[in-house]
Amino acid sequence: MSAKLFEPLTIRGVTLPNRVVIPPMCMYCAEDGHATAFHRTHYGKFAFGGAGLVFVEATGVTRAGRITNGCLGIYDEDHIDSLAPIAQQIGEMGAKSCLQLAHAGRKASTQRAWQGNGPLTQENIDAGDERWTVIAPSAVPFSEGWEMPRAMTRADMDEVIEAFVIGAERALAAGFDMVEIHMAHGYLLQSFLTPLANQRTDEYGGSLENRIRFPLEVALAVRAALPEDVPLFARISATDWIEGGWEPEDSVVLARLLKRAGVDVVDCSSGGNMLHGATNASLQRGPAYQAHFAKMLREEVEVMTQAVGLIRTPELAEQLLQDGTADLIAIGRQALFDPFWAHHAAERLGVTNWDAWPPQYGWWLSKWKRGLASMDEAPLD
Ligand SMILES: Cc1cc2nc3c(=O)[nH]c(=O)nc-3n(C[C@H](O)[C@H](O)[C@H](O)COP(=O)(O)O)c2cc1C
Repeated sequence: MSAKLFEPLTIRGVTLPNRVVIPPMCMYCAEDGHATAFHRTHYGKFAFGGAGLVFVEATGVTRAGRITNGCLGIYDEDHIDSLAPIAQQIGEMGAKSCLQLAHAGRKASTQRAWQGNGPLTQENIDAGDERWTVIAPSAVPFSEGWEMPRAMTRADMDEVIEAFVIGAERALAAGFDMVEIHMAHGYLLQSFLTPLANQRTDEYGGSLENRIRFPLEVALAVRAALPEDVPLFARISATDWIEGGWEPEDSVVLARLLKRAGVDVVDCSSGGNMLHGATNASLQRGPAYQAHFAKMLREEVEVMTQAVGLIRTPELAEQLLQDGTADLIAIGRQALFDPFWAHHAAERLGVTNWDAWPPQYGWWLSKWKRGLASMDEAPLD
């Protein structure tokens, strides 16, 4: 038996042991950008659970670029110290690590997910949260009642580029194997891309080429700062799912330019410019509902892609690799439910490799699974 899901993949100088990826997922419990004991356990356990690549959540390259008061940051040199044990723990468990570098733009200064994901309320502020001025390509708020952003000047843009570059350098200093630039979900870089948020009249707004210019400048600068053997991912929203917004064919143009700029993998998500929970006619969520975008970019641009979004079963993950949809498969919420998803998937696909398990577990579980030991038997020590 063999399964593509458990074949290694080499990207530049890094070999992932398999194609199972834990995508970036904000945990909203950092302290002034610093990772805590929760983060170390949280991320370490996915590597323990057999994933080949573990992403660390959206990490603000500036303090104002955090989504919430509880988001991770990499805007101070001393953030390196709290991130380093996470990268180390992931590596020691045999997986590779990727830090997602992010700037939340006009969706910054908001509530943690469990507080509602909306603009901060007086109650949140009374409870200790800080509110700050947000920046965006244009002075257009995300939605009614959200912070009115300040339209960015060229100086702001230079600062953001430098912050992404410094963030990438700090991520490597913390021991991460690679970084991803967050260009999706309505955050700063995606809000340059989409005409729904970008109403600039200079060379960064208007035509598709102009709207792509700033995110591309960020990608070029980050690539230039990374050693040749370090992979670079970019997460994009392949479509806004909104008429008059960013369209899948725009993503083809973007992916082509990103590839030329030295981005190795396009991580294909979608949406982010609609209020949380809102929906419209063109968006039908179902198993692997975004994966066809990954396939389109892989075929048309010949770039490696990562598929994500409602991929829950090993069979579906394997099928997406077999049919050439993507090179990597990200398992988000299902892995929160089952952090050992990758090991369990290998068993379901008939390719269990006990050497990939932590030996502390594997020596016993392998005997039990091969019928050489029984759970009813009393273990001796
Ligand atoms: C709790 C939570 C936090 C998330 N945070 C991020 C994030 O930091 N960056 C990002 O690009 N996507 C984020 N996402 C989106 C996920 O990476 C993923 O694309 C999405 O959950 C769909 O995959 P799934 O259906 O396998 O969960 C988050 C999703 C969840 C559930």
